[in-house]
Amino acid sequence: MAKTTWFRALQGAVKNDRVVHAYLFSGPRGTGKTTTARILAKALNCEHPRDGDACDECDSCVAITKGSSLGRRELDAASNNGVDDIREIIAGAWHGTPGSRKCTSLTKSTNSQKQRQPHC
Ligand SMILES: Nc1ncnc2c1ncn2[C@@H]1O[C@H](COP(=O)(O)OP(=O)(O)OP(=O)(O)O)[C@@H](O)[C@H]1O
Ligand SMILES: [Mg+2]
Ligand SMILES: [Zn+2]
Repeated sequence: MAKTTWFRALQGAVKNDRVVHAYLFSGPRGTGKTTTARILAKALNCEHPRDGDACDECDSCVAITKGSSLGRRELDAASNNGVDDIREIIAGAWHGTPGSRKCTSLTKSTNSQKQRQPHC
């Protein structure tokens, strides 16, 4: 993956353990937002990280690649945007995955904004 400035910033945050609790990736379709979130989740949960990069070989990295990791979930925010959905996400964050950093990616949040009904 090309090492852009913001990519290096994320890599440095992982390396120096200065990761914040949420990141917002914004950009046109197909520019790598979901891919970046997946790489970040891998780096945070990797058993043998090197300089802020995941090894891509340990059990955690393999599970994230396969989509079977309990440490990373991906949800479509265009359809999972009700109060109950958000409660379920918060409740799920407490379910134990020892030693790992739980990552939840909410994709398509722009679609979710468009669908939201105005209210007072
Ligand atoms: N830096 C990169 N270099 C080369 N290919 C990339 C890079 N980042 C992502 N890709 C590839 O581009 C494609 C789209 O990436 P991705 O799904 O992460 O984009 P996205 O921003 O989440 O798109 P969308 O807005 O549609 O959800 C994927 O096939 C991915 O493997
Ligand atoms: Mg995406
Ligand atoms: Zn790894």
